[in-house]
Amino acid sequence: MPGAQHPSHVYPLGSRLNEAGRLEVGGCDVVELAAEFGTPAYVVAPDDIRARARAIVRAYGAATPACDVVFASKAFPCTAVYRLLAQEGLGCDVASGGELAMALRGGFSPERIHLHGNAKTREELAHALDVGIGHVIADNTRDLDVLEELLAERPGQVQSILLRIAPGISPATHPSISTGGPNTKFGFSLHDAPAAIARAQDSDRLHVEGLHFHIGSQLMDNAPYQAALEAIAGLGSFPAVNLGGGLGVAYVEADRPPSIEDYVAAKVRAVHDVLGPSVRIVDEPGRALVANAGVTLYTVQSVKHNVDTWVAVDGGMSDNLRPMLYGAVYEAEIADRFGGGTRCNVAGKHCESGDVLVRDADLDDPRPGDILVTPVTGAYGHAMANTYNGAQRPPVVFASGGDARLVVRRETHEDLFTRDV
Ligand code: LLP
Repeated sequence: MPGAQHPSHVYPLGSRLNEAGRLEVGGCDVVELAAEFGTPAYVVAPDDIRARARAIVRAYGAATPACDVVFASKAFPCTAVYRLLAQEGLGCDVASGGELAMALRGGFSPERIHLHGNAKTREELAHALDVGIGHVIADNTRDLDVLEELLAERPGQVQSILLRIAPGISPATHPSISTGGPNTKFGFSLHDAPAAIARAQDSDRLHVEGLHFHIGSQLMDNAPYQAALEAIAGLGSFPAVNLGGGLGVAYVEADRPPSIEDYVAAKVRAVHDVLGPSVRIVDEPGRALVANAGVTLYTVQSVKHNVDTWVAVDGGMSDNLRPMLYGAVYEAEIADRFGGGTRCNVAGKHCESGDVLVRDADLDDPRPGDILVTPVTGAYGHAMANTYNGAQRPPVVFASGGDARLVVRRETHEDLFTRDV
């Protein structure tokens, strides 16, 4: 896009190219942020997260009287993000004891937390009961067994649960993030669900609030939620239904995901049509709240011409696994020279050929020392970061109103040794 004046809509809300042609996120010049905080770095606009959280809470509040919006915190598990979304009044979905600990530290009250997992340990369930967690999503009969055993040791305690059901629906998305098909590892099959529900309802220590499904992630179509509801409708009437998350986001300029408003309208309409208007709706958005709020800054280290032009940066599959796991496609720009001219592959620094962040990028004459930016790294980037090749995981910098604040520091060499005994 030679001569582009504006970053595409995939960048954080409020981003712009300033008079010097440099990208600004949250009012901060990202080239200056790179100098201050180093690279690679995740730069996040908390105002973007706040705006999207408010939009979804507003849309649900307007559409249905009883609802709860729950942040699927696996998308961006860091204390500052937990704190922000707790302040916004959301509930929180945690997928493990570790996320539970982070959610509590971030300020979520236990009764607003929902514990998930297809392989919960006794320790995780005991921790959840001890802190007074609001909701456990039972995935299998072992969850029910262990909950009953643990509750027997806790006289008078009753635990609210939802049962996760695999509705047998496979929406269009990458197979690794399609989770509600007939042969999934998640939840009770439609065949086993009636017995599991009857058993849980029989227990005087378990309170069955309702059913849960999460059919997949990065969904660009709202229709499958209705199909999933129709699949589980025959399992009984319950006070609540949890529809999981799934709303897709735009990773590249041409992507047109459903709007938050259309997504909410489709889900609410489907619940009202299939289950009736009085059922409380729980939604678990992750990606849609945080993905577009974040960009990653890298420094170009080398440029070479083999068959293709290869632009190598100081990060890669240690800070963004998504291209390698799902073939995810990203955009890239030189942060102070938006536009194209040089077709190239943006490669990471890791010791394998698959470590390519962006194939067929179009950059303006990339050179060593340039700051390169990839947008839409707010979801599942920090979350899945790792220390492959001794990488030190990047900091998270919040940028708002022209001020930048470090909320997660960069890992150090010392950190790489801290667990050695
Ligand atoms: N609820 C449950 C039970 C989930 O398992 C998930 C995501 C969500 C909600 C939130 O889904 P979202 O709104 O973010 O689509 N690492 C993958 C994504 C894995 C999603 C797993 N579950 C990625 O980078 O695309």
